[in-house]
Amino acid sequence: MKWNSSFVIGIEVIDAQHKKIFEHLLAIENSVAKRDPWHILRFLLDELASYMKFHLAVEEAMLEVIRYPARANHHESHLSIMKQIAELEAALKHSDDGANLVRFFENWFLRHVLAGDRDYVAFIKKEFPQLAERSGA
Ligand SMILES: [Fe+2]
Ligand SMILES: [Fe+2]
Repeated sequence: MKWNSSFVIGIEVIDAQHKKIFEHLLAIENSVAKRDPWHILRFLLDELASYMKFHLAVEEAMLEVIRYPARANHHESHLSIMKQIAELEAALKHSDDGANLVRFFENWFLRHVLAGDRDYVAFIKKEFPQLAERSGA
């Protein structure tokens, strides 16, 4: 998968973090392609998971501060994301199905970035335009 402009939601701080998540994802993809040993994949997955925790916490703090009306729902979606990752980490202990891992993260990234986070963008652009990118992308 390659980064492209359709991934940009138009809120600078969030887009910068999504790009970082994407870079973690590419590192995992490369590692799978190179058939790295299990412990390397495990390390990369841990790194991704911890960055993701940080990102989801930032997003939730932002939505809380601006009193986004559907923030509870968004929080729920984040809980299920972290649950899926925990399951994946557990599954990785018993197999080294790298292709499955890559598929999961690509799907997760597309769902979370392209769909999940779109729900608050219109609200922010309307109520807090100063948080949106100057370019208005
Ligand atoms: Fe996000
Ligand atoms: Fe989110």
